Amino acid sequence: MNEAIEMLADQRLKTMDQILAVLNRNIVDFGSKFPTVVSDHNVYGTRINEDGWTQSFYTGMLWLAYETTKDERYLKKAKEHTESFRNRLLDNKGLETHDIGFLYTLSCVADYRLTGSQVAKETGILAADKLLERYKEVGEFIQAWGANGDPNGYRLIIDCYMNLPLLYWASQVTSDNKYAEAATKHAHTARKVVIRPDNSTYHTYYFDYETGVPTKGVTAQGYSDDSCWSRGQAWGIYGMALCYRYTKDPVFIEEFHRLADYFVNHLPEDSVAYWDLIFQEGDEERDSSAAAIAICGIEEMLPYLSDDQAGKYKDYADKMLMSLMKSYTAFDTQGANGLLLHGVYSKPGNEKSGYGVDEMNLWGDYYFMEAIVRQNKTWNPYW
Ligand code: GLY
Repeated sequence: MNEAIEMLADQRLKTMDQILAVLNRNIVDFGSKFPTVVSDHNVYGTRINEDGWTQSFYTGMLWLAYETTKDERYLKKAKEHTESFRNRLLDNKGLETHDIGFLYTLSCVADYRLTGSQVAKETGILAADKLLERYKEVGEFIQAWGANGDPNGYRLIIDCYMNLPLLYWASQVTSDNKYAEAATKHAHTARKVVIRPDNSTYHTYYFDYETGVPTKGVTAQGYSDDSCWSRGQAWGIYGMALCYRYTKDPVFIEEFHRLADYFVNHLPEDSVAYWDLIFQEGDEERDSSAAAIAICGIEEMLPYLSDDQAGKYKDYADKMLMSLMKSYTAFDTQGANGLLLHGVYSKPGNEKSGYGVDEMNLWGDYYFMEAIVRQNKTWNPYW
């Protein structure tokens, strides 16, 4: 083993121990509640599971911890979450969103994959049915936000690639191809509109409600409509890898190269992206969560690449991971109760205010942990 690989392996083991120590404390401190979307001065509060798209990242971390340790405490808590997500679905709370995919993949699908729970399976399928309701034949895409079918909200967003695995999974377990067909149609529509000729991406794209013709790309969380929001590009990288896994359509490998190359070519010195790739130096904030997502997306794609290509991207992913582990973790930050410092939820345009700016966020924590677990090559993704 060469020195760099050995250092990375040692650092990963140490980091995993630190992650588990944080989770052990949080299981007690959070009780039956979930962490808030982002931290406040690096401290998460608690919330209930009634709305929002992020609760399942905590559940996902519990499943990762359970897989890593086989400690029943994590299993018990994750199972409680399955019940909570089932109740949320049956009560139809806060599910007017495509993010049903994030919510139910890391809770019920993960539960079914790991324990074979039939309740989890049934709940996951009901969630996929609900997500499918947002698929629009006119335009062939899944509507991201707002009331289903609202002509003013007739748009997709790049993040949705991470919601598609729920649909692919539902087709696998039901043998009904309707979910996968919608997912694949959305995946192609999205890549055609959001990826620009220079390989950067739009965050969101609107369609004409009556004709389905794509009308315009706009940002919601990036610096400007024509800049490249870092986390969006990272969602795209991971999305291309997942779509390739499920469809084996080589176009997703081509798109992966485009998005991943743009991402790594716009990183600052320490390999952790600023919140928008328009910045490569200066005092703007980093989005550590974009780095964590990009690492996982690259790791997902590695088995499908030639040795040369895989080696190149693995180097990029390892550099990002090492940088996160060395300089972005919260373990030595007084009072912090999460994993990864320096994320940005939303800092649109030039404003100095925003939400979750230079804070920890739950998905950053989850994907950071997934990135570490992924170094174990036998790990089977929940996505
Ligand atoms: N999916 C929402 C976000 O990345 O902020």
